[in-house]
Amino acid sequence: QDSNRDYDLTTPITSTSGLRQGLTSYGDAHFSLFLRKVFIKALGYSEDALSRPIVGIINTFSGFNPCHANVPQLIEAAKRGVQLNGGLAIEFPTISVAESFSHPTSMFLRNLMSMDTEEMIRAQPLDACIMIGGCDKTVPAQLMGGISANKPILPLITGPMMPGSHRGQRIGACTDCRNNWAAFRAGEMDVEEISAINEELAPTIGTCGVMGTASTMACVTAALGMMPLRGATAPAVSSARLRIAEETGANAVAIAKSKRKPQEVLTKESFWNAITVLQAIGGSTNAVVHLLAIANRHPELQGVITLDTIEEIGRKTPLLIDLKPSGDNYMNDFHNAGGMMALLQVLRPLLHLSAVTITGQTLGEVLDASQSKRLSFAQQIIRPMSDPLFPASSLAVLRGNLAPDGAVLKASASKYRHLLSHTGPAVVFENSADLAQRIDDPNLVVTKDSVLVLKNIGPIGNPGMPEAGLIPIPKKLAEAGVKDMLRLSDGRMSGTAGGTIILHISPEAALPESTFGVVETGDLIICDIEARKLHLEVSEAVLQTRIEKRRQSLVGETQARKQRRGYRGLYERSVNQAQEGADFDFLTAGGANT
Ligand code: FES
Ligand code: MG
Repeated sequence: QDSNRDYDLTTPITSTSGLRQGLTSYGDAHFSLFLRKVFIKALGYSEDALSRPIVGIINTFSGFNPCHANVPQLIEAAKRGVQLNGGLAIEFPTISVAESFSHPTSMFLRNLMSMDTEEMIRAQPLDACIMIGGCDKTVPAQLMGGISANKPILPLITGPMMPGSHRGQRIGACTDCRNNWAAFRAGEMDVEEISAINEELAPTIGTCGVMGTASTMACVTAALGMMPLRGATAPAVSSARLRIAEETGANAVAIAKSKRKPQEVLTKESFWNAITVLQAIGGSTNAVVHLLAIANRHPELQGVITLDTIEEIGRKTPLLIDLKPSGDNYMNDFHNAGGMMALLQVLRPLLHLSAVTITGQTLGEVLDASQSKRLSFAQQIIRPMSDPLFPASSLAVLRGNLAPDGAVLKASASKYRHLLSHTGPAVVFENSADLAQRIDDPNLVVTKDSVLVLKNIGPIGNPGMPEAGLIPIPKKLAEAGVKDMLRLSDGRMSGTAGGTIILHISPEAALPESTFGVVETGDLIICDIEARKLHLEVSEAVLQTRIEKRRQSLVGETQARKQRRGYRGLYERSVNQAQEGADFDFLTAGGANT
């Protein structure tokens, strides 16, 4: 299962050379090859075509996925690149996961997509595989699956959408979806205006046009050395995007020949570079979960890249990119300012330049080869190290009795910075339904200094760990002008959202041992950003009594989980916690492949 090609289509059918031992799924191995050639020839391929390196191209087009709407054009361009360089390109489908149309959440389906990707790469006779993805969960799913399959892989990103315009102001999905919706909720605009905005928030195909999860994962994938640097930012609708696809096709043929596999390319140093970029771009909190899941697919990196790595790198890395939600601009601005190439030139002193990339060049060589003169012009998007947007730790990792295994806070997206160090009484919502029912109740006892707590939206508690962590400001406070409060949950938040929001609290509330599960309204919660502390001011004895009592009440649900059918049953029984990547325990690198 670990060879580049499970059987060799180029072997003449009269020969047995090149056949692998044990390949007897249609009787003897030689007959298997004979039979497979019968069927691939039904597609019209000649012996000549089949003698070339075979590059699989994963087609993730779906009529439900606007972020992947340009996949057909990218396939055409990637095929051109493969075939101009002497390879044979063959496309095949996997599932497509679009953020907005993936009930209950796209994260619920990420691991399924990773399994689909892994098994189809492994199953089919390809020498290298171009994985076309873009929307939030697809790129991590493909990297997870591709690393586990460990055949040569080349991520190809669909690219960000362009911004739209409303009354002379640029707007774009999805930071402005949220800002404008909040303004509508607060009574600052009427229904006609919010409807007009709805038409303009996603004016082209492509992934969300801000530094949300999709853009973050694109930048991180480039920093890992897995694709051309320009591939992170070129707009979905640009000709540059098509040229990147063609280049990826050309690279695929070379990589098929060199047999460079992802587990060789990816090292501790490449993850270090990726996390440095994550911090410098003010990337999505979701990328933390994804990066941990990706690293944990690699046998040598499992448990090596952790939340502590994110925190350690964050302390040294300033936020340099002025993009929403931490800043003001859009992905096409970042692209026009020089994109990842320009950013990495600035970040150079913080990077491991010896990290190898997919083409075999080191990152240092890639940066040296760029015409850096073209990148030095006056622009406002990529700041110099001397003038950062945020000094360090745009993403901070907190711990304490409330989150012994960690929690994540995008400090740079906080609207009221004083909330980063804040003590206040908890207002607890037991789950999303409870929140929906009570958050706008005029009788809710809450002030701007309260700490809003939402439980049971973790990986198990609400399968898929929904992006419900952006707890809305209670209507009566929103109408009084409150724009941010300290908010806590065991769930996730969209990468396009902002506020003082602590996420991924682990262990999650649904687990019997969770302290977070026993927070009660009125308990004092202390968030201290300097000390990276998240503390519940309740005595250990009281906490233990509460945990014991609650343990009893969870027995029924734990039992039900064991019986649940289908993918959801598999998910609930197998998903690990956010700090491990919310992957399935049986998919991480720990297990054997045979
Ligand atoms: Fe696909 Fe935002 S919805 S990237
Ligand atoms: Mg998103």
